[in-house]
Amino acid sequence: MSDTHRICVVPGDGVGAEVVPQALRVLRAAAAACGFGLEFDHRPWGSAYYREHGRMMPADAAAVVADAEATLFGAVGTPEVPDSITAWGLILSLRQQLELYLNLRPVRAVPGTPGGDFAMLIVRENTEGEYVGTGGRLYAGTAAETATHTSVFTRRGIERAVEYAFRAVPEGGLLTSVTKSNALPVTMGLWDEVTAEVAARHPGTGWERMHVDAVAYQMVRAPGRFDVLVASNLFGDILSDLGAGLQGTLGLAASGNVNPQTGVGIFEPIHGSAPDIAGRGVANPLGAINSAAMLLDHIGRTEAAELVRAAVDATLSSGITPADLGGNRSTQEMGDAVLERMA
Ligand code: IPM
Ligand code: MG
Repeated sequence: MSDTHRICVVPGDGVGAEVVPQALRVLRAAAAACGFGLEFDHRPWGSAYYREHGRMMPADAAAVVADAEATLFGAVGTPEVPDSITAWGLILSLRQQLELYLNLRPVRAVPGTPGGDFAMLIVRENTEGEYVGTGGRLYAGTAAETATHTSVFTRRGIERAVEYAFRAVPEGGLLTSVTKSNALPVTMGLWDEVTAEVAARHPGTGWERMHVDAVAYQMVRAPGRFDVLVASNLFGDILSDLGAGLQGTLGLAASGNVNPQTGVGIFEPIHGSAPDIAGRGVANPLGAINSAAMLLDHIGRTEAAELVRAAVDATLSSGITPADLGGNRSTQEMGDAVLERMA
């Protein structure tokens, strides 16, 4: 392992620019405490870049991300530019171009807050399903206007996501395959078939198949029953926001877009650009900081990752919270509080 890791940093839009600097402070402190170096390669991609250059990121952006050991990403989206340009021009495009086929989204009960005891990992397939982008409009503006949007599932795409999910199940744990084959027998039928094939390769791992509507219900009713869930792109997107709701706020939720074969990874809080609160210095940086911890795991710095997670937990346990968790600490003060607990 090299002594210095090169990290690409893309704050992006809205609160991304406020929370990422706090995550960088924490990363620097973790690296110093554990005796390794970090070199940050800052990239100004996003909506401001779009206004200047007519595109969200340069043509070589995927190569830049692939070249770094990992990327820390903030958020994308702004009210002035359609999502079809911002999201598709940046994060969705990077996920596809780099085949970041896993989106790992841990959900767990927040220390120091009421709300039960649960910890689950949502493994979201991240390159296909409803997100391939095929479809279009016919007869635009007429009474016959028709829109199609095709979801695309491949055996290879399902298999690699499900295989990863099975391997992620802890000893004695349960894998839940999220389906909807009662209503979508073609695509979700393939999903179920491939899942059963992969399951046969993991005879020691308990698993179940559950329709997405029932999963949503059970996640609210009995979140403690889940360990690892594997879901298609859209289902995983929705369920991970539900998971964030269980935690009490979107502001804590972290994620990693990864391709375990190539080793490329983009780590981002799942909260988005939050234009309603952007620029006020009140956004919760813990989602970005938790994402930085996942990034540290990804580059093999587990000890540093644990240090960060412990400091986040200690901060929350002592009741220090930002506005989205009912407190009054600013973005910067939350960063300060985590740093103090790493010393
Ligand atoms: C997420 C986001 C994105 C998605 C948006 C910004 C397109 O909601 O990462 O969960 O739908 O994947
Ligand atoms: Mg989402």
